Amino acid sequence: ESQNLKVIGQGKLYGKVEISGAKNSALVLLAASLLTNEKIILENVPRLTDIDKMENILENLGVNLVFKKNKLEIDSKNISIKELPNELVNGLRASFFCIGPLLTKFGEAKVPLPGGCNIGSRPIDEHINGLKALGAEILIEEGIVKAKIKGNKNKLNGTNIKLKCPSVGATETLIMAASLAEGRTTIENAAREPEIQDLCQMLNKMGAKIYDSGKEKIIIDGVNNLGGCTHKVIPDRIEAGTFLIAAAATSSSIKISPVIPNHLEAVTSKLKESGSKITIKGNSITIKGKEIKGVDIETAPFPGFPTDLQAPFTALMTIANGESKITETIFENRMSHISLLNKMGAKIKLNKNVAYIKGVKAIKGMDLVGSDLRSSAALIIAGIIAKGNSKFYGLEHLDRGYENFELKLKILGISIKREFNKKTFTEKKYKLEAESEDIQKFRVA
Ligand code: UD1
Repeated sequence: ESQNLKVIGQGKLYGKVEISGAKNSALVLLAASLLTNEKIILENVPRLTDIDKMENILENLGVNLVFKKNKLEIDSKNISIKELPNELVNGLRASFFCIGPLLTKFGEAKVPLPGGCNIGSRPIDEHINGLKALGAEILIEEGIVKAKIKGNKNKLNGTNIKLKCPSVGATETLIMAASLAEGRTTIENAAREPEIQDLCQMLNKMGAKIYDSGKEKIIIDGVNNLGGCTHKVIPDRIEAGTFLIAAAATSSSIKISPVIPNHLEAVTSKLKESGSKITIKGNSITIKGKEIKGVDIETAPFPGFPTDLQAPFTALMTIANGESKITETIFENRMSHISLLNKMGAKIKLNKNVAYIKGVKAIKGMDLVGSDLRSSAALIIAGIIAKGNSKFYGLEHLDRGYENFELKLKILGISIKREFNKKTFTEKKYKLEAESEDIQKFRVA
């Protein structure tokens, strides 16, 4: 059996939509809960397949998890294994987050190399080098990263680390590892994404001593142990941005909440520049889409324009008045949506990681297949804008990262339906068609 989403094109959005908790925060907070023997209660956890996978990984380590609606109770006091099995890691890059907590708390960890995400090479050298600087001995054998604290010590050692690039994942790994290390650690050129601040806030509630998260230099004073806490995951700025872009693309007016508006500043400012009216009130953002002007974007680490919204914004620009230039600077291969957008009638020229778009009056619906999470969201937006209907395949990517996406779109007035087919859908067939246009290199996570 296969599933697809059928979208009726030329839709308009109306009303309000509730934004879920941030996937990328929840994933790292789940890993951070390994740092304590006491109970962690996480609120506002989105129900997503990525979160399910992370739960399975923790359960396999001996963690007890109870999920009630969006509340997750996590009890790590009975962890017995310090090793993640290969088959559970299965494409979840965030599984690698477990290395920091396991290593610092138990003195050793074995974690498979995180494969799976197809947005170009996503190395982990910054994680590894940082852990080594903290006093870990690391061997990579047969795809498994084996880490243990050097010598006869039972603690990592605080140190000064300077990241070569402000990697979100590496910053998180090193913060968690340093939280129980001996003495002070500083991380320079640290990532400043809101999810990192969320992590530090939770760790500080647990008793950690972390200063200046959200700044370029983070200071962590190691403590002897961490306790339990209750923590509410921040709203998902990427989900929020996706809905704002969908509204702009259909000249619609919607209100989204709850959000933390300053997490979305780069996005709302580009939407304004392209013609939308944005009103911010407390924890809500209202957008009134009007004309769509072509604007250029260049992805950048926070507070810059997020790479995770590059594909959705490209979908918006296909029908803009005038031209735009979209530059992806964070990941190598994050342009897999372009060839399908062109098939729908968009006029986009791709040169490496730069997309040059000439806005067209309309694009047309067709069968679509997402090859990663954010390009899937972009293609659904394209289907909503398009003339005619689209069928969207490859839902496993979408279900990884958008909670109740089609339900939320339905509530907003979009005609969208999940269809279940007897016939198995062969992703290959669609891939092959798409690949005829020289895109086999572009696959994204
Ligand atoms: C996280 C997010 C992802 C988002 C990305 C950038 C999670 C689970 N995922 O991914 O949705 O798109 O941030 O905002 O939070 N790099 C290295 N060496 C390393 C690590 C990274 O060179 O050791 C490079 C990567 O190849 C990439 C860039 O740094 O080009 C950014 O990666 P990073 O910030 O680490 O992204 P993730 O943490 O994987």
